[in-house]
Amino acid sequence: MARITASVYSSHVPAIGAAIDLGKTAEPYWAPLFKGYEPSRRWMKDNRPDVIFLVYNDHATAFSLEMIPTFAIGTAAEFTPADEGWGPRPVPTVLGHPEFAAHIAQSVIQDDFDLTIVNKMDVDHGLTVPLNLMCGSPDAWPCPVIPFAVNVVQYPVPSGRRCFMLGQAIRRAVESYDAPLKVQIWGTGGMSHQLQGPRAGLINREWDNAFLDRLIADPEDLSKTPHIDYVREAGSEGIELVMWLIARGAMADVAGGAKPRVVHRFYHVPASNTAVGNLILENT
Ligand code: DHB
Ligand code: FE
Repeated sequence: MARITASVYSSHVPAIGAAIDLGKTAEPYWAPLFKGYEPSRRWMKDNRPDVIFLVYNDHATAFSLEMIPTFAIGTAAEFTPADEGWGPRPVPTVLGHPEFAAHIAQSVIQDDFDLTIVNKMDVDHGLTVPLNLMCGSPDAWPCPVIPFAVNVVQYPVPSGRRCFMLGQAIRRAVESYDAPLKVQIWGTGGMSHQLQGPRAGLINREWDNAFLDRLIADPEDLSKTPHIDYVREAGSEGIELVMWLIARGAMADVAGGAKPRVVHRFYHVPASNTAVGNLILENT
């Protein structure tokens, strides 16, 4: 059977992608951020998965106000990096895993979660920047990736609780797949940031670090946080953090297994307008 070996949590910011693409990672502004991800990049090399199930959000790239799926699973064989206004990022095409993705869709939908199945989709910084942060800039990504897009852009957005329960259903789906795959599940986006309105630039270090503490120790309780708390405390775009609860819900302890091991934890401000968090939890 396939199994979830670890969960990874990481912010995304388009400016991080630009720093990589323009060779600015060693500049004083960016160096501490990339240094903070070094242990994660080493760990990725030593713990290469067979598949990454990557929970992220699209930023009006693949979807628009014309169509707003709450949860969308990418079942295509490949996903092209999107043109977000400055041309597509010079990063490898993302290869999918159609058979495994179709199995997960079947299992999760029959397990009462309504997913949108997407057979053609471009992927934006929400997906490519976490891949760069964790894997560097290789000629090809280390393994197939199943993109899983969550609407956290246009209200109504899904609750943290729904996301946490969905993670549990994804775990059941993975474990019912009859192939010995090592699967990592990634939750991306966040941490605190607000890009518009009078509170633009908002960062909340204390709240972010409490979120990390609770994500590790008591995700079930954390999942009860209402969306308005995210917006008030972590800014309008801080709501991206509900996606981390999908990854956390898929970990063994939530299903009665052992607590995960904290492999790496990192927090940094600022990256563009955003507080950046990175966490790796390994099933033991
Ligand atoms: C920024 C952060 C985001 O999450 C995003 O999607 C776009 C921009 C920023 O910090 O500039
Ligand atoms: Fe974003």
